[in-house]
Amino acid sequence: MVIKVFGDYDAVSAEAAKLVAGQILKKPDSVLGLATGSTPIGLYQGLIKYFNNKLVSFRDVKSFNLDEYVGLSPHHEASYRYFMDHQLFRHVDLKEQNIHMLSGHFGDAVGECERYEHLIEKAGGIDLQVLGIGRNGHIGFNEPADNFPGATHLVELDRPTREDNARFFRSIEEVPTHALTMGIRSIMKARKILLIATGKAKAEAVWETVEGRIRPQLPASILQLHSDVTLLLDVEAASLLSERLYVLES
Ligand code: PGA
Repeated sequence: MVIKVFGDYDAVSAEAAKLVAGQILKKPDSVLGLATGSTPIGLYQGLIKYFNNKLVSFRDVKSFNLDEYVGLSPHHEASYRYFMDHQLFRHVDLKEQNIHMLSGHFGDAVGECERYEHLIEKAGGIDLQVLGIGRNGHIGFNEPADNFPGATHLVELDRPTREDNARFFRSIEEVPTHALTMGIRSIMKARKILLIATGKAKAEAVWETVEGRIRPQLPASILQLHSDVTLLLDVEAASLLSERLYVLES
């Protein structure tokens, strides 16, 4: 793992945007795995700036998002499709037919998950996967469990995850109880992984991810087995890590 630590959220976001833009410049038809949540918003703002300054184009990029709530239409303000439209898609030249998201309105969960896996494969696999991390160590919606889930699947959301996400709803009761998520194997197949984490609330999960035992109760710990992972952290998220493990960027 390459671990870089920055002074604050803005510096982490700027570095993340640089790495993603660099990937697109190197391979204009890159397949990007994208994440939702508060953390990547600054990254997306950085990418929009690069696009507006004509430094990158998403014309040939394909995107696959990690997860989606079950039962929310794409127009629901808390759906991840709505989030992505507002935070990134409508501001850049990514083509609608190249945007892929799991549908929260499926007839058959297994069929929807298989469809998604097939599309990722058909696109040639994910070149760069962006990840956030939950307080409980989840990546995507792969929650702590007794086994690492493999492919894209239906998941029941943990109470802490629903509490964390209640800020996007009127109350916790409105937060869906289930989601569809790319699985651990789907994530581990990405050629490169970029995990971003900021704030004190993430410090323990980050420590477990980097220095803890690899175990399904802390899903992100599996990243220790991936050959090309970069962690971009602010000083708070990195506060429990041994200093010898990371580079402190000015
Ligand atoms: P956050 O969520 O960026 O809103 O903290 C991250 C996650 O749960 O993966």
